[in-house]
Amino acid sequence: MEIGDGPEASAWMEIGDGPEASARMEIGDGPEASAWMGIGDGPEASEGMTFGYRETGQMERVNRILRHEAFVRHMRDNRTAEKERIFCHHDIAHFLDVARIAMIINLQEGMELSQGMIYGAALLHDIGRHEQYKTGIPHEIASARIAPDILADCGYAPGEVSEITEAILLHRDGESGSRKDLAGILYRADKASRACFVCEASEQCGWKEEKKNHIIDW
Ligand SMILES: [Fe+2]
Ligand SMILES: [Fe+2]
Repeated sequence: MEIGDGPEASAWMEIGDGPEASARMEIGDGPEASAWMGIGDGPEASEGMTFGYRETGQMERVNRILRHEAFVRHMRDNRTAEKERIFCHHDIAHFLDVARIAMIINLQEGMELSQGMIYGAALLHDIGRHEQYKTGIPHEIASARIAPDILADCGYAPGEVSEITEAILLHRDGESGSRKDLAGILYRADKASRACFVCEASEQCGWKEEKKNHIIDW
């Protein structure tokens, strides 16, 4: 839907005076609020209306991932496995850092990847990390096994599932870092997300000194 078209759009754009404007500022109430947050149903959400950085239809399926039973279970297993870990964790804070840095890179480099693809890859790229601690399986493989069913359940098309799964599989492969696609963005955002410059375990960390982040780039 074009911004400026139709009654919903114009109501949404009215900021300032009148009861509509003030009602719209209250988040959490009624169907308008949930559509506005991008987590509701209905035509506005599924059309994928774009306004600035926000793509409501895209974020609807991303939010389904958050509530997916397997996602919740694997997140809990990651948390339990990393309770005593002094190095970087593979938790929701990391996943969101990766997603948001990837969005910045996406905009800066004009790649026009959808928000759903970027968040889908970022939320799931380390979802199987706990299996690596238990069995030694590389976690990109564990995560790439877990991700497809979750993505399919959350409304991703088969081609999208394949693209995200490939990106997950390559997220530790240095050669993918220069790629101008989802795999490349995921690799770079993942590496850029770590705050080595304030890490107390930096001395003991296995990352080579030249790979550590000493400044903030994003
Ligand atoms: Fe990873
Ligand atoms: Fe990661």
